[in-house]
Amino acid sequence: MRTVYLNGKYLPENEANVSVFDRGFLFADGVYEVTSVLGGKILDFDGHAVRLERSLNELGMRNPIEKADLLAVHRELVRANDISDGMIYLQITRGNPGDRDFAYPSDDTEPTIVLFTQSKPGLADSPAAKTGIKIISIEDQRWGRRDIKTVQLLYPSMGKMMAKGAGCDDAWMVEDGHVTEGTSNNAYIVKDDKIITRHLGNEILHGITRKAVLAFAREAQMKVEERAFTLEEAKNADEAFITSASTFVMPVVEIDGEAVGTGTPGTVAARLREIYLTESRKAAI
Ligand code: PDD
Repeated sequence: MRTVYLNGKYLPENEANVSVFDRGFLFADGVYEVTSVLGGKILDFDGHAVRLERSLNELGMRNPIEKADLLAVHRELVRANDISDGMIYLQITRGNPGDRDFAYPSDDTEPTIVLFTQSKPGLADSPAAKTGIKIISIEDQRWGRRDIKTVQLLYPSMGKMMAKGAGCDDAWMVEDGHVTEGTSNNAYIVKDDKIITRHLGNEILHGITRKAVLAFAREAQMKVEERAFTLEEAKNADEAFITSASTFVMPVVEIDGEAVGTGTPGTVAARLREIYLTESRKAAI
């Protein structure tokens, strides 16, 4: 049985309970982070901590934990659950005001903080990295503040189910003719050796993996263009791929049943995956 962290306590997972009045449960009034673990070490903790702070600030929510303590909790959960490869999930909600009310509760309502681990042995050796994944395109029907990492994930879940129903792995969302991002990842294409990914804004999540991968690409003298691209461009690209904390860099080989490039994982995606994994393992803490 897993040990999880809830409001300052380490508990067996079946003893960690949250109130029915918790605003995370009633209003999806909460934010989250997913951080990867490789070889028992945490990847890009700082990046996730900074984004968490930003999400909380954007929603006027109090951060119940200091950064150093948060790192200590991550490490203790990795130790207690003997995680070699996997993920750490963190969620902070506006807490339990004792009743249901649309208005935010007063500041003396304690936020709820939960962390748990997910063990994924061989996370970095996923077979999908060698074969690539197939995606469909769907309309982006999410709200307008996708830069805040909230736990409001119903539409991305629906998108994942639409992809599964079509025999595919994931969906890219399209708004005004342009790709925003994947259901739980950032989207990229490669055309004439140029890496193209949507610019930052309220329309997409500011991926921690995206930031690292773009920095590595620039260091390696690869050309990067941060701009919106159309679905048509994606279908005519030489390569496509996604990034996220749990998939790292993952090639996309098919969009809406059409092969991207040769229909096999591309060299740019493979190179970026290699660099990202090597450098992230080195910097892991
Ligand atoms: N998802 N875009 C969306 C909508 C996401 O949900 C995620 C992350 C990303 C990539 O961000 P990062 O590189 O920081 O993981 C982009 C996480 C992994 C999840 O929900 O499981």
